[in-house]
Amino acid sequence: SALKKIIQGIPKAELHLHIEGSFEPELMFKIAKRNNITLAYDSIASLKEAYKFNNLQEFLDLYYIGAQVLIHEQDFYDLTWAYLTKVHSQNVVHVEVFFDPQTHTDRGISFDVVFNGIFKALEKAKEELNISYQLIMSYLRHLSEEEAFKTLESSLPYKQYIHGVGLDSSEMGNPPSKFSKVFKASADEGYKLVAHAGEEGPSTYIWEALDLLKVVRIDHGNRCLDDEALVERLLKEKIALTLCPLSNVALKVIQKMEEHPVAKMLDKGLIATIHSDDPAYFGGYMNENYYETAKALNLNKSQLMQLAINAFEASWLSAARKEEHI
Ligand code: ADE
Ligand code: ZN
Repeated sequence: SALKKIIQGIPKAELHLHIEGSFEPELMFKIAKRNNITLAYDSIASLKEAYKFNNLQEFLDLYYIGAQVLIHEQDFYDLTWAYLTKVHSQNVVHVEVFFDPQTHTDRGISFDVVFNGIFKALEKAKEELNISYQLIMSYLRHLSEEEAFKTLESSLPYKQYIHGVGLDSSEMGNPPSKFSKVFKASADEGYKLVAHAGEEGPSTYIWEALDLLKVVRIDHGNRCLDDEALVERLLKEKIALTLCPLSNVALKVIQKMEEHPVAKMLDKGLIATIHSDDPAYFGGYMNENYYETAKALNLNKSQLMQLAINAFEASWLSAARKEEHI
């Protein structure tokens, strides 16, 4: 269709992508087999059948189970390479990728196995696919701040290759304030800071992410529209929101795509951006997120281009590299 051609034609940046959430069932079964791991599902179809979620936690429970088949550096490499070739085909030219070290180190996989597999695929994509990247390690917020400190410690040998830290997993009951100290320590090590906030949690969590964690972007941030003073703050400080529309529908953050707040956010002048979050679980990569949002909200070409420009603006590319894309 004409709309699909427009979206394909726009060079895009993906700033909110969990590499473990790009684990397609086909690859999961393949890696499980070579690692002699039996999945709780007897076929790709029955696994896909389980991808019906009522909230964030129901998704996370499956996402952590899926990640358990990742054992060797090659597994992390194959996972990351599959994602990069997929988005390359969708005209994505820059990615800022989350990985969750604790999901793996808590199972006895060493930090360097996880890091090396992901890093080697990102470097290959930079060389061969001309995709620039930044890498963001995310602390799991359902675990303690002390555990996050251990992860920070483990990351230090690689800190010149890891550009930022994030905060993800179960939001309700795990406010940003729980991680103030480790975010301060992460900034002191030179990491840039982001956090998931206001996905399921209230707008007060977005305030905390700004005031206590000092993040430079908010991941999701859907709930900011509940609070006019917060919208003013986001406008004044030019804080971008990395929205994930198909994720929001899949996790019932909204009941249907027509309710997605991104159009309202653009109208208010907020730096709204669109990404895929966990594309293997939520039914689409970047193009599908742009397409379903555009269709449901009647976004025009200039709005779609604004979304793409916003993502480059909000990215961690140098000013000169941003210029090339805007
Ligand atoms: N981990 C992976 N995807 C996530 C999401 N959308 N929210 C919180 N944690 C996550
Ligand atoms: Zn996310």
